[in-house]
This record gives sequence, structure tokens and C-alpha cells, in this order.
Amino acid sequence: MPLRDRKVIVTGGPTVEPLDPVRFISNRSTGKMGRAIADAAYMRAREVVFIHGPMHESLLEHTPYRMVEIESTVELLDAVLSELQPDCVLIMAAAPADYRPAEKSPVKIKKKEEELTLRLVKNPDILKTVADIRGKNSALRNMFLVGFAAEMENIENYAMRKLVEKDLDFICVNDVGRHDAGFGVDTNIVTIFSRWGERLELPLLSKKDIALRIIDCVEEGITKKTDKLLP
Ligand code: CTP
Repeated sequence: MPLRDRKVIVTGGPTVEPLDPVRFISNRSTGKMGRAIADAAYMRAREVVFIHGPMHESLLEHTPYRMVEIESTVELLDAVLSELQPDCVLIMAAAPADYRPAEKSPVKIKKKEEELTLRLVKNPDILKTVADIRGKNSALRNMFLVGFAAEMENIENYAMRKLVEKDLDFICVNDVGRHDAGFGVDTNIVTIFSRWGERLELPLLSKKDIALRIIDCVEEGITKKTDKLLP
């Protein structure tokens, strides 16, 4: 089934893991890349839903597609699972927090000792959870999964490891150590690796242009994957 007949689920922005009613753990993701991908997908797909963590209001304006706001990684997982369809495309541009505080205090934590130790527990891995669901159900084998990897060192090795471990169709890797790529800025440098061993290195581009190139690749990748799945 081509992209124009599919639903595309795009995630973007950070997640927020509360410590108490006024404090949280989060990260520097702004959601710009996710928003650009949702916009690009909207031009080509049957339906788009953008599931996002807290983002600046200006980045959430004039969206012609449905949006779902979440806070924590567990909420993001639930939202993604409830949107899945057998032929959907999931593009995980969000930066979910990998850990959350083991306990959330119901009241504001008071300042006492010189040191405060926070105990964190691991959050579920959303892509891995979805890939496992796909792997166990042949009716879902056409689902197309795209991950992002934010890396600062051993970029290609870590990216390839994530592609395999999370059983992805594509991984889009950005070097977050550069000042003109990654969190907060309008440009990015992305290399896309496919599960078929292809590699596409994109030059420094605006996030809008990167998003369009990623959607081009998804469109081509869907055709290739469908060809490969044919008996
Ligand atoms: N991701 C996910 N669930 C998580 C964390 C990340 O689905 N709990 C997704 C991200 O949206 C991204 C991909 O996995 O598409 C890789 O995210 P990244 O932060 O680079 O890697 P991690 O798997 O979190 O590993 P590490 O932080 O150790 O590099």
C-alpha cells in the first residue's frame, strides 16, 4: 500500500517526567524536527497525527492535521499504541526521557539535607515495543518504523545498533554535538540508514528540507519493502 493510502504517526518534542507538582526531568528537544516531518507527511499521506510533548505555542500553530499532547514517556507509549493501524507509518522524532523518577511526591519536595539522591527507573522503549508487536503479528508486517538517533560519538556504530535492536526500517541519525545540527536550531545534518543496508548522507539543510527528504525516502522504502515481502 503506497504512502498516500496510509496513516502516518509522527512524534516530536521532549517528554516530561514529574518529580513533584512543580518540578520535572526533561531534555532539550524543541519538537521542530517532528513538526517539520508531520507537515511534510501531510502533503503525501492519507492521514497524519502528530503526538507531541510540551512545545512552544508558535510551533503548534496552523496544523491541518490532528494533534495529541502528552507529557511522560509512558503517556507517549499509550498514545502511540492507541493510534497504530496495520499499514501505518510510525516516525519517532520525539526525544522520550529514558528514565523517570521512581516516586512522584504528591507535594512540593522541601529543601533539607546538603545532598538529595534521586532514584530513577527505566521507561519503556516505544519503538522496541511497537516493533515487538509487529514481529508477533503477521497482519502488522507492513507497518513501517522510522527511528531517530541523537548521537555525539561513534555515530554510525550506535545508529546501526539501534536499527537492529529496535528492528527499524530506517534510522535517521543526527550529530547532536554540532552547533548547526540537533536540538533547538533550524538546520540539521542527517544520515539515513535502511534495514536493507542503504545509506543516504544528507548535507546541512533546514529541518523542513530534511523532513521532505525523509518522507521521500519513506515513500521509496515502502515500495522496496513491499517488493521484498511479496512471495
Ligand atoms: N525512543 C523510544 N523510546 C524511548 C527512547 C527513545 O522509542 N524510551 C526512540 C526515539 O524517539 C528515537 C530512537 O528511539 O527514534 C532513538 O532514541 P535515542 O535517544 O537516540 O536512543 P535511546 O534508545 O534512548 O538510547 P541512548 O539514549 O542510550 O542513545
